[in-house]
Amino acid sequence: MAIKRIPVEPYRIKVVEAIRKNTREEREEILKKAGFNVFNIPAEEIFIDLLTDSGTSAMSDRQWGALMIGDESYAGARSFYNFEKSVKDVFCFKHIIPVHQGRAAERILFQSSVKKGDYVINNIHFDTTRANVELRSAHAVDLVVDEAYDPLIDLPFKGNMDVKRLEEFIEEKGRNKIPLVMMTITNNSGGGQPVSVENIRKVSRICKHHKIPFFFDACRFAENAFYIKKREKGYSDKSILDISREMFSYADGVTMSAKKDALVNIGGFIALNDDSLAEELKSILITGEGFSTYGGLAGRDLEAIAQGLKEVIEEDYLEYRTAQVAYLAELLEEVGIPYYKPVGGSAVYILADKFLPNIPRNNYPGWALTLALYREFGIRTVEIGTIMFGKKDEKTGKEIFPELELVRLAIPRRVYTISHIQYVAEALKRLYKEKNKARGLRIVSQSPYLRHFTVRLEEI
Ligand code: F0G
Repeated sequence: MAIKRIPVEPYRIKVVEAIRKNTREEREEILKKAGFNVFNIPAEEIFIDLLTDSGTSAMSDRQWGALMIGDESYAGARSFYNFEKSVKDVFCFKHIIPVHQGRAAERILFQSSVKKGDYVINNIHFDTTRANVELRSAHAVDLVVDEAYDPLIDLPFKGNMDVKRLEEFIEEKGRNKIPLVMMTITNNSGGGQPVSVENIRKVSRICKHHKIPFFFDACRFAENAFYIKKREKGYSDKSILDISREMFSYADGVTMSAKKDALVNIGGFIALNDDSLAEELKSILITGEGFSTYGGLAGRDLEAIAQGLKEVIEEDYLEYRTAQVAYLAELLEEVGIPYYKPVGGSAVYILADKFLPNIPRNNYPGWALTLALYREFGIRTVEIGTIMFGKKDEKTGKEIFPELELVRLAIPRRVYTISHIQYVAEALKRLYKEKNKARGLRIVSQSPYLRHFTVRLEEI
């Protein structure tokens, strides 16, 4: 199949950063030292790093310029007001509370709202969100539509919440046990799929009816808004800004990791309307992150976010961004490599158990694929499968597998060119032909929370 459309970058390169490809022998050694965990590899030993799209964006000349005008006053810095104005312009909430990154927003919000035995509902909780719920001795419940778990049906909004199950769940547990409902846009742990305005409206109505606060996990809101524009009836003529404002108008607040759709390397915020909750969150903020006008960030970081939010909603940018990711998927499609469909906005998710049918799930095929991609080609990716989400059955001690065994190729924003993307596609094509290059694994040591960050394994 011929590639019809090559996504051309709507920027030119002003500063470059050298990357080096080490040898296969070096990588073999590095993997051993790293306990066969790609999180433990020094980044300098990686050629193309698709571990995450978080905090890895290239900033623009305007953002770098903005850094120079950061006001580093402890309280009331000019940069805070600039940041607040820019966030309010897009998100339209009354209170804007800066934090150092998304998980701090989660921790602070849950510390004030979630208590032991509660249920927090989400389409699918991201791993840090789930961990922060569980640290409160509460339950993280995923109520995404069933189609999200079918990686091969091509539907426009597979990140949607199952509203029928949401209503049933609220009836069953009672609203007092549910301190908040969240919705992750786009749904990172379910193939990076978007949520429709129609679904957001329904969830909002149910939450209002039961007087349950409704929050977005808004990390990738601009990509979500772009898909609404492209896929949902009635939105093709609306701007990304208008669609974003409409989405947020249905919610009580957001937690946001600015490391994604604010095009910066660090930062985040909580935005909300409730006055007394905002006061409470600010007092928690002060004990852990910092005063309410900097929240663990430097003034210059706040300036970079303020500028990044303006750039991320530009349509040229979003058109190229989503097309670059789709282009990688198109190249894989040519040889039938199985991936989650439709392709998400920030990543291609390989169906690792189908890519490596020779490795049984209890030998972690997703993890095995991440290791093979590094060893053979110097590419770092991340498993979103059994090591990340698997659980031990308390009674039998056996591993309970999550529904999907994915390897995510997350594309950093504005960082790699089309030839880098082609290199990655070529690497996957070769491995797909030579599956025996990937080896199954056994766990040597692990931690009870977020084990993927620290687990050590050995190859079988
Ligand atoms: N929510 C979602 C949907 C995320 O994807 C992330 C981070 C967070 C919350 C936490 O934000 O990292 O700023 O503390 N996701 C990164 C990833 C790490 O690779 O997908 P953070």
